[in-house]
Parts: sequence; C-alpha cells; structure tokens
Amino acid sequence: MSSTLFRTKKVEQSILDTEEPEHALKKSLSALDLTVFGVGVIIGTGIFVLTGTVAKNNAGPAVALAFVAAGVACALAALCYAEFASTVPVAGSAYTFSYASLGELPAWIIGWDLVLEFALGTAVVAVGWSGYIQSLMDNAGWEMPAALGSREGADAFGFDILAAALVLVLTGILVLGMKLSARITSLVVAIKVTVVLVVIIAGAFFIKGDNYDPFIPKEKAVEAGESLQAPLIQLMFGWAPSNFGVMGIFTAASVVFFAFIGFDVVATAAEETRNPQRDMPRGILGSLLICTTLYVLVSIVVTGMQHYSQLSVDAPLADAFKATGHPWFAGFISFGAAVGLTTVCMILLLGQTRVFFAMSRDGLLPRFFSRVHPRFKTPHRPTILLGVVIAILAGFTPLTELAALVNIGTLFAFVVVAIGVIILRRTRPDLHRAFRTPWVPVIPILSVCASLWLMINLPAETWVRFGIWMAAGFVLYFLYGRGHSRLGKEEQTRAPEQA
Ligand code: ALA
Repeated sequence: MSSTLFRTKKVEQSILDTEEPEHALKKSLSALDLTVFGVGVIIGTGIFVLTGTVAKNNAGPAVALAFVAAGVACALAALCYAEFASTVPVAGSAYTFSYASLGELPAWIIGWDLVLEFALGTAVVAVGWSGYIQSLMDNAGWEMPAALGSREGADAFGFDILAAALVLVLTGILVLGMKLSARITSLVVAIKVTVVLVVIIAGAFFIKGDNYDPFIPKEKAVEAGESLQAPLIQLMFGWAPSNFGVMGIFTAASVVFFAFIGFDVVATAAEETRNPQRDMPRGILGSLLICTTLYVLVSIVVTGMQHYSQLSVDAPLADAFKATGHPWFAGFISFGAAVGLTTVCMILLLGQTRVFFAMSRDGLLPRFFSRVHPRFKTPHRPTILLGVVIAILAGFTPLTELAALVNIGTLFAFVVVAIGVIILRRTRPDLHRAFRTPWVPVIPILSVCASLWLMINLPAETWVRFGIWMAAGFVLYFLYGRGHSRLGKEEQTRAPEQA
C-alpha cells in the first residue's frame, strides 16, 4: 500500500500528457508576459491593505523589516520553484513538481493545499477590491446598503455583491482565453505600478522623521482569553502573548507574506509558456525582486507620513495622503488600487483552475474537468465551477482571518517544493535543468526553515483551520483519488502483462 501512495509520475510522462490534443493548453506566454503576470498578481491586498493593519497592530514602522523577512523567505522558495518549473514545465505548479518527486499522496496533499491557497486568496482579494470600490463610491456620494457591502468588520449577515460580481466577470474572461487575459493584465499592471510609484515618490515629500520614533515599538502584552489568536510559537514556548518588539516583526512578516503570494502562480503557467526552460526562472525571480523593492519603499514612506498608531486599516496608503491634506492623491490611489486588485484576483483564479485541471487530468479529480474548450483551448469546466464557488465565498466571508489561512497553505507548499528539489536531484540527476537552484541542499534547507518559521508565527487558530482542511483532503483522496488515479490504472494494466 505504501508503495502506491508514493508512486511517482515520470517527468517525461507529465510533459507528454500536455501534448494530448484534447487536454493541451495553448503555449503563448513569453518571459515578459510572465513577469507582468507575476507583478500583476503579487502587488495587491498585501501592500494596499495589510501594511496598515500590521504596522498598527504588530510592528510599527518596522513593518518594512517584516517585508524584508518575508521577501527573504520567498526568494529562497523562488530559487527552488524556479528549478522545478524549468524542469517540469507542466500546469499545476507545486502539485506537478511533487507528483514527479515525492509521490502521489504528497502531490495530492499539495494540490489540495493549493486549491485552498488560490480559492481563498481570490476571495480575499475580491473582498479587498470591493472595499476600495466602496470607498470610491463614498467619495462620489453613493453608499452601498450595508447588507450588500463589504463583510470586513460587519456584524450583521449580508452578501458582498461587488466582490462576488468581480469574481464572476473574471471567470468569464478566463474562459475566453489566456491571451486576452494577459493583455488586460499588462494594462492594469501598468496602472498599478504607477500608483505604487506615486505613493513612494509623492509620499516621500510628506515624511516626518518623528513618525519613525520608535522604529521598533516596545513589546506590549495582549489581553488574556484570546489565546488561539496568538502566534503558535508563543503558545509552544508558553510565552505571554504579546505584540510589537522584535517578535512582532516576525508576526507581521507572517501576515504580510500574503503580499508576496503570486510568484508561485507564475510557475503554474509553465505549460502555457513558449520557452519555459529559459523564461520561467526569469519571470519568477524578476517579478519577486521588483515587488520586494517596491514594498519596502512603500512601507517606509507610509509609516513616515503618518504615525503607525494612526494608520487606517482599510485603505492605509490612500488615507495617509488624506491625513497629510492631499485628498486628490488619495482618490487616485484608491482608483489605482481598485483597478490593480482585479488582476490579482484574476491570476489567482487562473492558478486555481490550472491546479484543478492538472489534478483532474491525472484522474485524482474527475476527468470531466480536464477537457479543454474546443475553441478557446481553456479549461472552461473547472474555471466556471470554481468561479461560482469562489464568488459565493467572497460574498460571505471577511478578509483578515482568511488571509492567514492562505499564508499557511502557501508556506506549506514552499516546504514541500524545497524538499522536492533535493529529492529530485537524487532520484533523477539525469534530467535537463535549465535553471539549477544554487547550493543544493543548503538553499532548499534554508527555504524549509524560513517557511516553517513564518508558519509558526501565524495564529494557533489558523493551524486548527488548516488541519481541518487537510484532513478533509485526506478523506477525499482515499474515497476518490486513489481509486481513479490515472497513474494507478496504468500500473494495474502493466502489472498483469509483466506477471
Ligand atoms: N500578493 C497578492 C496580494 O497581496 C495575493 O494581494
């Protein structure tokens, strides 16, 4: 039994599968498309919304250091992702990588985990988008009825209709085809990057040195009775739950990590890349570098414009300009943020459907979902199914706690990918690797440690939720995936012949 759980799919077979006409995606993306894609999905709710929350609650101006810490963890993971993506250029990201190296059960676990990352990530960003649109509507004097507005911080039952509508519209665009979505993405990314640069350059003129004092605020105890909301590490070591101080920087890092999610999504588009061997590493590392630089600069500027304790949690970048008496800038930033969040949402949705597609092509989920559309060549069935589910989710759920759940899922995937790099080097040293992770096994081991460190800095309740999701995944695998696995069936047909 254990041998079937760890049966691996040959890398060559993964690549061959992508060439079956009925299940093939169009290869149309270049390195530039990928970088734009990366920046398009990376810059989003993390920098536009979470910066304010964590500066105010966890790190103060040292939120810039939190971005550096999270960026380092991502860079280590990116080096591992890049090797995998350039060796196994097949849709499905970490899922495919682990099927080739660790075996079917770990691959299922990772695929299930990525579904969580992308589905909830899409919902989180859609809700953030809806918040910005509502703030723009408020400026124009229109107010959404509370029952149809953002659920973040809302007490009463309601449905965030804007968030749900966004997800459905983007689903339609994705069904129509990759190239169309890449074009829209480029335009939106340009707007978003302009807004971020405006924040950095214009904001730099309004910095007051006093706001950086103290740069790392003193540690502050949090109220008892909220123990499950404390980072796991504090419970593990029996520390009194606290915010700020040096540990506060790491708590902040584990939250703003959300701002970096997306470079791994670039890897999910490997199969649709013209020259994945060369372009994947460029796309992944390039987009990560650009974003880390921008994040550190934005957080330094924003915490310099307004004292961290005064920052807003809904629209901190725009509100910092309002606070310094420049509402015109604030309106422009809100507009750019709202536009920018659409691409994030779309690409997360795309990553999600591609993982689902890859799992279904392997028979771990029903094969029905892996027939591509005869005309658009897109996996329309999972796209529509997941789009509708995520729209409902985005309508009903508030943002912040879900973001932590997305982070833990993603970090877990990073751990598996890093281990996978080491294993695949041993089991398949012969494979052509266009990009090789430097200093193996040092970099992958450091990547595992950095990801685990951020994971244990997440709230204990996030761990509980993550455990429940993964347990459900196990049940599904043993009830469906194991019996329907294409690889398993092929092995069974071969077995009698060999006997
Ligand atoms: N990195 C993306 C964001 O911050 C998911 O919204």
